[in-house]
Amino acid sequence: MTNDLAQAVRSALAAVNDPVSGRPLDLGMIQGLLARDGMVHLALAVPRERARDYEPLRLAVEKAAQAVPGVLSATVVLTAHRGAAEAASGQPAAPRQAPRTPPGQGPMLLPSIGAIIAVASGKGGVGKSTTAVNLAAAMAASGLRTGLLDADVHGPSLPRMLGSDEKPASAGGRILPIERWGLKAMSIGFMIDQETPVVWRGPMVMGALEQMLSQVEWGTLDVLVVDMPPGTGDAQLTMSQRVPLRGAVIVSTPQDIALIDARRGIRMFEKVNVPILGLIENMSYFCCPNCNHRSDIFGHGGAKAEAERLGAEFLGELPLKLAIRETADAGTPIVLAQPESEEAAAYRRIATRVAAKAMGSTGPAMPRFVVE
Ligand SMILES: Nc1ncnc2c1ncn2[C@@H]1O[C@H](COP(=O)(O)OP(=O)(O)OP(=O)(O)O)[C@@H](O)[C@H]1O
Ligand SMILES: [Mg+2]
Repeated sequence: MTNDLAQAVRSALAAVNDPVSGRPLDLGMIQGLLARDGMVHLALAVPRERARDYEPLRLAVEKAAQAVPGVLSATVVLTAHRGAAEAASGQPAAPRQAPRTPPGQGPMLLPSIGAIIAVASGKGGVGKSTTAVNLAAAMAASGLRTGLLDADVHGPSLPRMLGSDEKPASAGGRILPIERWGLKAMSIGFMIDQETPVVWRGPMVMGALEQMLSQVEWGTLDVLVVDMPPGTGDAQLTMSQRVPLRGAVIVSTPQDIALIDARRGIRMFEKVNVPILGLIENMSYFCCPNCNHRSDIFGHGGAKAEAERLGAEFLGELPLKLAIRETADAGTPIVLAQPESEEAAAYRRIATRVAAKAMGSTGPAMPRFVVE
């Protein structure tokens, strides 16, 4: 059945006109066509440097695939593949900027997830997890089917921040995510004893992450927020290549030292062609819990200036506020614990903007572009 559906999609795509070449779509550009339970996912190999030109073709192919009887949803991404890109353009492909992933190690196909967004920073402790949890909770509260994945296998934060120590159940050989605050969540922390030190070597980290992506029954999600581990080393680079990210949100505190790391983080995503959705300044200024007096203890505004310098969007700022930490520590993100607060409103504003950008309904056109 599945193969029949894939075949039907392939036949339908033969009739799509490629607006770039003005000829029927070259079926050799189709990579990794996957059809399962009415969900279709495929990649189109295009020359890397012309990815934006191919956005109309991507949309046309997605529409044609969606129109095939039996297809419930279709996701098409653009991918830079040296051989096929050359075939498609008739020109040599640009040299790869990122290290090649070994054969068979390209991005995973996750057809039932609309957009995967990384929340990252170069530096540890700047508030990635707090931001990821609040953004995800705000997205879920706005009606989006939202998942939250803790990619930090060394120091998982989700069990504490979601206030759950439930062990995930399994069904039909698949792991069921924890459901909390309207979110589907997964973290290595749900599977191991909190007190057990986790010592993972590189490949095991990737293995754990891949399991959490591919063996967890996420169901259909509009958006999956990934709380990334700190750093910009090989593990993070591989992760950004293996997970089909639609974009990354960079969290930074205003200090120069954090901004240098944020810049490194941005460069890492650029290397693997993951669009930067924007920068958030966390702990932007201090709000006194007694009198609400505001002081710029870390030199507020650094991330905004940095965003301007890098041509990235400045998404907003969050103060250093006791209530943000206390609610996170108590297991209910502030957007839910204190929905009337200014901070909850700021998270909601940022979440709306990030979701819209990642899901492509507003903001600059962003080709879905992944590196194979
Ligand atoms: N805006 C804020 N106001 C007050 N406390 C905050 C704020 N943001 C984060 N925190 C607190 O700072 C600490 C570090 O935050 P968090 O764990 O989110 O950072 P992280 O970047 O994910 O860290 P790691 O690099 O270890 O994963 C936590 O105790 C959290 O509650
Ligand atoms: Mg964290």
